Amino acid sequence: MSETRSYPRRVKTDAGEIEFRMMARSDEAAVLAFAKALPTHDLLFLPRNISEPKVLSAWINEIERGAIVSLLALRGKTVVGSGTLVRDPHSWSPHVGEIRMVVSQDVRGQGVGRALSQETFAIALGAGLEKLSVQMTVDQQAAIALFESLGFKAEALLRDQVRDVDGKTHDIVVLGHNVAQVRAQMEAYGLPAAVQH
Ligand SMILES: CC(C)(COP(=O)(O)OP(=O)(O)OC[C@H]1O[C@@H](n2cnc3c(N)ncnc32)[C@H](O)[C@@H]1OP(=O)(O)O)[C@@H](O)C(=O)NCCC(=O)NCCS
Repeated sequence: MSETRSYPRRVKTDAGEIEFRMMARSDEAAVLAFAKALPTHDLLFLPRNISEPKVLSAWINEIERGAIVSLLALRGKTVVGSGTLVRDPHSWSPHVGEIRMVVSQDVRGQGVGRALSQETFAIALGAGLEKLSVQMTVDQQAAIALFESLGFKAEALLRDQVRDVDGKTHDIVVLGHNVAQVRAQMEAYGLPAAVQH
């Protein structure tokens, strides 16, 4: 997946300095520790439970295959967030990317999620995608507010779409963003460098 941004990159947040860099096989143990510390409810938006080693290993296989790009947010050596861009160039939606993002509970509300979403968004723009989507359980107020502030709009509600470990079902909301339209607007404003890919 092509992208124009270079990593590692450091960003100052209210949680201190955060390093963003691409995730690799060598991060497996640190990412597993990060995922295991997350409340399982916060993982319901993902197709599989990433706190299971087998799932995490499959995720890294996908990164190595080039099918997905995952950015890690690190504070020191500790993983405090991950942002992933998923796309399938061989599907009927080669122009669409899905963003999947999660931040450690102990650093939430301090700007890490916003910085991570901006990085992931920039990668998606650089990859030339035309549409982006995100999905989350309807009670993830912070996630919905964050993506709406980036211009995403609700497109679908999937009732009882996921079932948690206690057997309770939850609704999923899907938000979409027409990136191609934004790119065209930026070009109209004379900002081609910001949208080059
Ligand atoms: C969504 C998530 C990644 C945000 O991470 P974060 O580091 O807390 O985010 P930030 O501190 O950068 O806050 C970003 C925005 O979220 C909103 N927000 C943050 N905390 C909030 C809260 N408690 N209630 C409502 N909105 C909130 C605000 O709009 C904030 O914008 P601001 O920069 O104007 O303050 C995090 O809550 C998370 O991991 N949630 C669980 C996983 C999930 O559902 N992911 C969504 C799937 S893509």
